[in-house]
Amino acid sequence: MAIAIAVVALLVATVLFHILSPWQLTPLASNWGAIDGIINLTFWVTGLVLIAVNLFMAWCIVRYRYNKDRRARYEPEDKKLEAWLIGLSTLGIAALLAPGLVVWNNIVHAPEDAHEVEVVGSQWHWYFRYPGEDGVLGRSDPALISDANPLGIDPDDPAAWDDIIVTTPRGYLPVDRPVKLNLRSRDVLHNFKIANFRVKMDMVPGQVSHFWLTPTRMGEYDLICAQLCGIGHFAMRGSVRVVEEGDYQAWLAQQPTFGELQSREAPDLAAGERHYTNCIACHGNEGQGNRMLNSPAIAGMEAWYTKRQLEYFRNGARGAHEDDEYGRQMVPFANLVSDPQTERDLAAYIEQLAPVTVASTVEGNPARGERLYRTCGACHGRDGQGLHGTNAPRLAGLDDWYQKRQLEHFKSGVRGGHPDDLYGPQMRDMSKIIVNDDAMRNVLAYINTLTGHEQDRAQPELAGRNN
Ligand code: CUA
Repeated sequence: MAIAIAVVALLVATVLFHILSPWQLTPLASNWGAIDGIINLTFWVTGLVLIAVNLFMAWCIVRYRYNKDRRARYEPEDKKLEAWLIGLSTLGIAALLAPGLVVWNNIVHAPEDAHEVEVVGSQWHWYFRYPGEDGVLGRSDPALISDANPLGIDPDDPAAWDDIIVTTPRGYLPVDRPVKLNLRSRDVLHNFKIANFRVKMDMVPGQVSHFWLTPTRMGEYDLICAQLCGIGHFAMRGSVRVVEEGDYQAWLAQQPTFGELQSREAPDLAAGERHYTNCIACHGNEGQGNRMLNSPAIAGMEAWYTKRQLEYFRNGARGAHEDDEYGRQMVPFANLVSDPQTERDLAAYIEQLAPVTVASTVEGNPARGERLYRTCGACHGRDGQGLHGTNAPRLAGLDDWYQKRQLEHFKSGVRGGHPDDLYGPQMRDMSKIIVNDDAMRNVLAYINTLTGHEQDRAQPELAGRNN
């Protein structure tokens, strides 16, 4: 009897948990209410079966409990009962699967008036491409992928030149307009998933998969990868902002086209050297840094990384936190180079400065740090050389006291917590693998042994195509 009561109590608790649980579906933000219909149907079918089976079990426990005057009868087959069971299970399973087939058919057949947007997955990053004025996405080929052409777009296709390239992991979509999403991958299997949109799909290297939706609710939605794609999978995060048509067009107009990206002139190093005079007081005439002023060595820092940090200092994504006293000092200097050409020239000048040898100030056990660094190396390169493909800057030759402070800032949210810092959340997640001070010293001691000479070996598929 006690067991029968326990079975029923468990059943009641399970059903109550489902109804009262704080973990419910996120608010629906697309036209795919049909998916919610299927999820609800699944809960109804499996829920009713769960209730029926458990109540039957409890009833059997009571009804057939031990009685010394009763003997069990052996009855191996009952054709009638089996026919009922098979019939009912068939109905249940068909009810679960059939509506899904109908909805799936709709999801992969975009309406005529849908506009197209491409999303590209890459370890561990998202890119977006919009078709530009002609409404046509230009041809692409994985063999054409390089640092300057991260999506492998074919420059020989005239339709490609007005394509709009978004290299930050935040895309925009206009509200109430059907959109067909074309999905590609640069390396391994990824999966485009925004819970509020209800639809998701794999991104398969070498092919283009697609589905469509109509965003129905404005807001910013988390984009996550729903396919285990390597060590940084959990940090592969992005977002999609759903906005009014006017705001969408205004945002599109600010993004560079493929043609603009390809035809950029070489930066002017002489001009860059002139702009660099503003940096000398703190970072030194050769970019060697100055620990007394808390200024790290910046000689040889990648131009793309310098540009991103300067932009972040300007828009408040970095250095605006009240606990970031040294970051705040950079803000007025970043504002001096807000003109895009000035910034490019300066970043190029810093990049060609010969990296300096920095003194190590942190004591740790490099042998222990090596194991921890494997995770870091997936993005920053096995030799700490930095990988543009993963948006991770060079670590070799970077002052350890500076890295320590940044790691602490990432861990505490002083850095990387701003909504406009599109790469910070990845580092915030990653910094948590360094669980204590010892681990941090060990990993920094190991980074101090790296030379940064190895080129792009952690991502062989990106190497060798950069020239
Ligand atoms: Cu990409 Cu997981």
